[in-house]
Amino acid sequence: MWPFALALDLQRGGLEPCNNITKRHLSDMRGMYIDEVATEEAIAQGDPLLYEVNQYDVPFETGQLLVVTTIIQPGRVGDEYYMTKGHFHEREDRAEVYVGLRGQGYLLAETAGGEFEALPVEPGTLTYIPPYWAHRMANVGQEEFIFFGVYPADAGHNYGDIEKRGFAKVLVERDGQPTLLPNPRYGVR
Ligand code: F6R
Ligand code: ZN
Repeated sequence: MWPFALALDLQRGGLEPCNNITKRHLSDMRGMYIDEVATEEAIAQGDPLLYEVNQYDVPFETGQLLVVTTIIQPGRVGDEYYMTKGHFHEREDRAEVYVGLRGQGYLLAETAGGEFEALPVEPGTLTYIPPYWAHRMANVGQEEFIFFGVYPADAGHNYGDIEKRGFAKVLVERDGQPTLLPNPRYGVR
């Protein structure tokens, strides 16, 4: 392999060139928002695009790094802000860095042992996600929330554990403010 350069659009989150684009709609996240009625209504009304992931794939080998941008649309399902699915890494001892590029968001992170952290992210905020911490981002602003990430190419993704139990806390709007509440459905999916 040779060194290479990509164009990272700091305003719009594009990577150019880009060889792996994933779009997630609400129907891809059934069961992840607490308000199931609002989920089904929004799916019936057009199944909104919640976020797009632009990744530049290199061989998924130990030693390589993957670079990626995520663009989360503004909006809520019920009171709960649009967010990523969230995952542990399949190789749980792999860390990750996220850097906020545009908009206002939150990192939610937790361990299998029950530790939980929530950190506000704005343009220029660098968050470090240590090994063994599941991670999710949510958009709490009025515009797109865009962040850049870099992580080991052999990390892989374990979505199943989060699909089964969710995160310990949910991020909802209360009196116009992002508010963390205990997840009423934690562990009971
Ligand atoms: C990679 C990573 C991010 C997310 C992306 C979408 O390990 O953490 O690139 O993959 O922000 O979130 P998920 O994968 O949870 O749908
Ligand atoms: Zn990750």
